[in-house]
Amino acid sequence: MVRYSDELIDEIRSRNDIVDVISQYVVLKRSGRNFFGLCPFHKEKSPSFCVSADKQIFHCFGCGVGGNVIHFVSKVENLNFKETIEMLADRSGIELPVVNSEGDDKMAMLKSKIYEINQITAEFYHNNLYNSAIAKPAQDYVKKRKLDNNTLKNFLIGYSGTSNELYKLLVEKGYKEEEILASGLVNKMDNGKFVDRYRRRLMFPIQDTRNRIIAFGGRVLDDSKPKYINSPENIVYSKGRHLFGLNVAKKGDLKKIIIVEGYMDAISLHQRGITNVVASLGTALTEAQGRLLRKSSEQVIIGYDADGAGQAATLRGLEILNNLGCDIRILQIEGAKDPDEFVIKYGPERFQKQVDKAISLVEFKIKMLKNNLNLDHPNDKIKFLKEIANILAKIDSEIEREVYIRNISLEYGISKEAIYAEIIKLNSQNVKSTKILEKSKPRLEPKKEQVVNEQTDKRERLIIYLLINYPEKSYEKIKNNVKIEELSSERNQNIIKKLYEEIEKGNINNNNIIDWFEDEETVNYLSWILAYDFEIGEVDKCIEDVVVTYQKEKLIKKRNDIVRKLEIQDISAEERENLENELNNTIIALAKIK
Ligand code: CTP
Ligand code: MN
Repeated sequence: MVRYSDELIDEIRSRNDIVDVISQYVVLKRSGRNFFGLCPFHKEKSPSFCVSADKQIFHCFGCGVGGNVIHFVSKVENLNFKETIEMLADRSGIELPVVNSEGDDKMAMLKSKIYEINQITAEFYHNNLYNSAIAKPAQDYVKKRKLDNNTLKNFLIGYSGTSNELYKLLVEKGYKEEEILASGLVNKMDNGKFVDRYRRRLMFPIQDTRNRIIAFGGRVLDDSKPKYINSPENIVYSKGRHLFGLNVAKKGDLKKIIIVEGYMDAISLHQRGITNVVASLGTALTEAQGRLLRKSSEQVIIGYDADGAGQAATLRGLEILNNLGCDIRILQIEGAKDPDEFVIKYGPERFQKQVDKAISLVEFKIKMLKNNLNLDHPNDKIKFLKEIANILAKIDSEIEREVYIRNISLEYGISKEAIYAEIIKLNSQNVKSTKILEKSKPRLEPKKEQVVNEQTDKRERLIIYLLINYPEKSYEKIKNNVKIEELSSERNQNIIKKLYEEIEKGNINNNNIIDWFEDEETVNYLSWILAYDFEIGEVDKCIEDVVVTYQKEKLIKKRNDIVRKLEIQDISAEERENLENELNNTIIALAKIK
């Protein structure tokens, strides 16, 4: 771990005003003391993303994420802590000292060795492919797959040998056992022997956006299993954070970006001039990959295989990309099993046409619906109509809805009037519930986590808020009344305990409280508290009220407990008398408060 001094981090933070920084990503409008905008971390139509200039924090009341400027940049740019600090330092013209510890140096050294090993390996495999003595079957295979020489060169496609030539080569070049094993390209067997991970496979090097080779995928030349072997995750490679081909795609126009399933799909499209294509790396699309896609392009087109697995992957990908607020389209591949086969069979122009015709999320949902129903059957047809009305009713734009209704009517032979009627029916049912929701301002209410009484939880949040913002006025009063162990959740206990400790030490400027906690949930939670408008009015009165209510609730709880105990029949006369006394005292105490 890199450790920058707290002073330096404070300096970086103070030179990067959160409103300035976030304004580069989100259009913010002032509203009272805060700024609001559309959340960049989930899809929304009305702004619940709040930025506070005084407190230098953000919080989205819709999806619950929040934190300070470092958390924001790290999330939106998909960077780790060190990279975020570097970016913010750079942005504000701060020179970072070199603070690498010995451990960092060693790690950095090992990483650079692995990049070297990967590069050497890729070139070795690539050269193999041109050696007929070794690679005849692979040469035949690439011919069969119609990969041309340019493509083999551009992607540094190769062939892994028949035995342990790579290991020998790396030793010859002077790499240490530790480095060779860390690359994952060679395994050490129980008997102490070294064997190459990849043998007799067509090799695809995987590069990061800085063109460094971070891993490999190796395909068999026939139908044997497993079809692919991939590099294991290691210190330079984590498969959920990269996209195959992004380094190449980035060189061209990326107004739209197509995501496909296979290395072969991406490569085949590139060869035919369609360069805005990347492939996810043998996993279902991850959120980190989703963020990479959203960052790279305005529109993401999912071009997965036409089979069932591809459909399922499409659904999962849609969910992730939709939550990230991407403009998504779905490519329809008809007459071929995958993009590779399609472009070989029908050519790039026709593929491009399909891209232009890629359907929206709504159309895709309707299509999926239809596939699961038999529209010749009246029951299914009614069901279909109801479901599409459900989908269409959620669309805000009238014009957009018009277009869908026209298309659906034409495509599925359902009259426009019938669709309208169904939507109107739905809307009238929904009006009542929407009104109630609006009244209670749902998006600003705390998210329900545990089955804690909401009132209590809200009050404890207010207590935290008061301790942070008005420690001098509130500390004594709150501390005398609010006992840590009586708080409703462990999270509130931890936070308030920490606040008590800090204030006790004379630390009364606690706006940086977010820094004291490392786990994301607490950071999100605290940013809620800092951003929320508790409508405090007069501070002293608010403190007084909160303390009194707190006492009152405690007494009520005590009273109820005693009553419950008294209801039990078999208690001794003595015990009963004690309880009754206690009950009397409690009721008197309660009456005094009221
Ligand atoms: N994959 C994998 N391991 C497997 C099968 C697939 O890691 N055993 C990953 C690879 O990244 C592969 C992607 O999933 O590229 C998609 O699989 P598939 O469509 O089967 O592979 P293609 O690359 O399209 O290969 P081909 O067209 O040659 O069958
Ligand atoms: Mn395929």
